[in-house]
Amino acid sequence: MTATRFSGRVAVITGGASGIGAALARRLHGEGAQVLIADLNEAQGQALAGELGERARFQATDVASQASVEALVATAVRTWGRLDMLFNNAGVGNLSRIEALAPADWQRVMAINLDGVFFGIRAALPVMQAQGGGAIVNTASASGLAADFGFAAYNAAKAAVINLTRTAALDNAARGIRVNAVCPGPVDTPILAGVSALRGDWEARVPMQRFARPEEIAAVMAFLASDEASYLTGAAIPVDGGLTAHTGQPNLLAALGQ
Ligand SMILES: NC(=O)c1ccc[n+]([C@@H]2O[C@H](COP(=O)([O-])OP(=O)(O)OC[C@H]3O[C@@H](n4cnc5c(N)ncnc54)[C@H](O)[C@@H]3O)[C@@H](O)[C@H]2O)c1
Repeated sequence: MTATRFSGRVAVITGGASGIGAALARRLHGEGAQVLIADLNEAQGQALAGELGERARFQATDVASQASVEALVATAVRTWGRLDMLFNNAGVGNLSRIEALAPADWQRVMAINLDGVFFGIRAALPVMQAQGGGAIVNTASASGLAADFGFAAYNAAKAAVINLTRTAALDNAARGIRVNAVCPGPVDTPILAGVSALRGDWEARVPMQRFARPEEIAAVMAFLASDEASYLTGAAIPVDGGLTAHTGQPNLLAALGQ
């Protein structure tokens, strides 16, 4: 890895104002990329773009809106002439029993976490096809590989993102466009702020016994978008401290004091 791994490359990051997306924006920018940060949160997105300075921009974006996502991709192309890396990263959670889950809440999670990824891929492909290549990285989740109690909409949306990633990868594999997903376990970001009281118990369930730092997810996302991953497409990579390697059965070694 060099400080210029991404110099001359243009990146769009949705959900780029906070958490994983902000860590990724800092990393890609630090490695030379032009970075377009997209988020609903204008204050935080503007502040981050301002902090990064030259080669960074912010665009207020709602990924649930096809027009908003198309305008985002158009801005990258208008500003910098190309789009090399698209990170469909914006997402929201929802905790509810299915029988109590309001259809409007289900639809909101689907609109942001799944439709938003579709709109992003759909808008980016013609640009990447015309320039002869590109990389798309979708932020799925460990919760797209298996299910959680009370997370119906999120689990369904993230699983769908993983299979959408595969279809997009197949359809574009011969065109120089790679499409992959990351599947983070718990990451220390504002999205988990509401459940911070559970942190100790939650960490104990992760084989590495801790949450990820956003930078640890961003590092894998940057790798997936880089030339180092040139033969990697259609993959859903767990970045979860071993969480999804576990069946959920008790730790017999610990129980037997070994
Ligand atoms: N933190 C975790 O434990 C964890 C684990 C697995 C997957 N993820 C996924 O990682 C991604 C990033 O989450 P994070 O943990 O950095 O959370 P975060 O809340 O820090 O960041 C998410 C960002 O998305 C933005 N956003 C929400 N709705 C949007 C919309 N409609 N349009 C544009 N932007 C919107 C928010 O304003 C926020 O800045 C999400 O897709 C999330 O589901 C997070």
